[in-house]
Amino acid sequence: MNPQTVEPRMKARIALSVNDQPHELLVPVHKTLLEVLREDLGLTGTKHGCELGECGTCTVLVDGEPVLSCLALPVELEGRRITTVEGLAEGGRLHPLQQAFAELGAAQCGYCTPGVLLTAQALLAAEALPPRDRIREALAGNLCRCTGYTKILDAVELAALRLSRGARAGAGR
Ligand code: FES
Ligand code: FES
Repeated sequence: MNPQTVEPRMKARIALSVNDQPHELLVPVHKTLLEVLREDLGLTGTKHGCELGECGTCTVLVDGEPVLSCLALPVELEGRRITTVEGLAEGGRLHPLQQAFAELGAAQCGYCTPGVLLTAQALLAAEALPPRDRIREALAGNLCRCTGYTKILDAVELAALRLSRGARAGAGR
């Protein structure tokens, strides 16, 4: 179809997998993933920020990679695995990153925290014990107005240490 002939309010029926839950939705094709998550699925853990791709607060994971949901269209994400901050905890237990953030005061107003947690989760899935500079680099697109970043970096390091110890203990069984 010629894109110029598409009605601006045209809707599409899409199937999305969010936090391992399948969803069937009828949404306007121009609606962003951020809007669909919050307004259609009630997953308000993903935060609105600039909506220009500059603050990182809307970050979610798509197939394990950080994606700015304010710039992503659900119609292009069928068949992909989307993870929001609501999908981090397992079986009622906080993810080690969430636990470390809570213990070290790395979440203050908390507005940036969901995006930071998911970006850090993607980093730790790729690198078990990243050096501090690598953590800082990975989180460079996630802006925080409160913490000065030091506590965030400390918390990611603590979670990485605990996760790697847990993995080693699991491998030794
Ligand atoms: S709200 Fe998406 S980058 Fe700011
Ligand atoms: S904790 Fe407030 S913006 Fe980061």
